[in-house]
Amino acid sequence: MAIIKGIQAGITGTGKYIPERIMTNADFEKITDTTDAWITERTGIKERHFAAADENCCDMAAKAGLAALADAGLSPDDTDAVILSTNSPDSIIPCSAAKVQGMIGASGAGAFDVISGCTGSLTAMLAAISGVSCGLWKNALVIGAEKFHDIIDWDDRSTSVLFGDGAGACVISRSEEGKGRFVSGRIEADGEKHGLITAGLGGKEDKLDMKGQDVFRFVNSKLPPFVEDFCRDSGTAPRDIDFWVIHQANMRITESLFKRLDIPLDRTLPNLDRYGNTSSASLLINLEEAMTAGRVRPGEKTAFVAFGAGMTLGALLYAA
Ligand code: COA
Repeated sequence: MAIIKGIQAGITGTGKYIPERIMTNADFEKITDTTDAWITERTGIKERHFAAADENCCDMAAKAGLAALADAGLSPDDTDAVILSTNSPDSIIPCSAAKVQGMIGASGAGAFDVISGCTGSLTAMLAAISGVSCGLWKNALVIGAEKFHDIIDWDDRSTSVLFGDGAGACVISRSEEGKGRFVSGRIEADGEKHGLITAGLGGKEDKLDMKGQDVFRFVNSKLPPFVEDFCRDSGTAPRDIDFWVIHQANMRITESLFKRLDIPLDRTLPNLDRYGNTSSASLLINLEEAMTAGRVRPGEKTAFVAFGAGMTLGALLYAA
């Protein structure tokens, strides 16, 4: 089951916030036993941005959220729900979405966080689509924001070079006949693999720990059939999708997926080289850049694909 029924839900605005501070691979060479060549060849990453010391997840989320609302031509008051996907919240209690709701002045809107690894923002989008499609909400603001700087284990060269900070956002609203709409969606988890990517609260285990090779193997074996099944259940085929918004984890993962599904690589817009893996912010940053570049075109199909800790997988199909 993948088809979305009910009131049409579409994307009416997108936004992003990228913090100023840049850390290049050359900067990493100075603090870690690594090289620009190794990082580039194994991941496709050249540089990543990190938040300032006094800049938190919610600060970045609020900026991206306001940008998306402005792009949609809406005021914060028009928002029925603020849904924040993050794996690096300012706090667990209260939820960071409530803090963001207050910061942007979306008075009266509901607010909740989604924690689902790098699949979180796609899961948050699915929650927003569900709320709009069943008639509960008119406009839902979905934000993905991460401050990974503080949870990175800086002594672990195999993970520290991969991640970056940032925020992306989109507004999902009731849409009219003939306008863009979400056609189908699916999320899946393999909880037996929950130990592959972990970060706890307090103690040594609060830092990010990842079994990189196992994650790589899991994603490369599970993602292609998951996407193929999803497309089939949505009444289409990977080759018939015009554009792909993909979680930016590793360029080799994107290339391997596209090769397996026989999709030309120019049907996506990678930005991993500039931002690294911004976890659950990455899908929405990628969406904002695709929209700005005019790649989500009327009359065409766009697919969203995400994967991450859990292990979790997710896909959405959008007809613009
Ligand atoms: N610089 C230089 N060498 C490094 C390094 C770094 N930053 N990190 C690891 N290495 C070394 C390892 O120590 C190992 O050395 P050895 O052979 O002497 O033991 C060698 O490089 C190969 O390590 P390996 O772990 O096999 O590399 P890899 O090709 O699997 O690449 C990752 C490592 C992490 C880039 C890769 O496994 C990966 O991208 N996994 C998926 C991670 C991911 O996308 N997670 C997010 C999912 S949402």
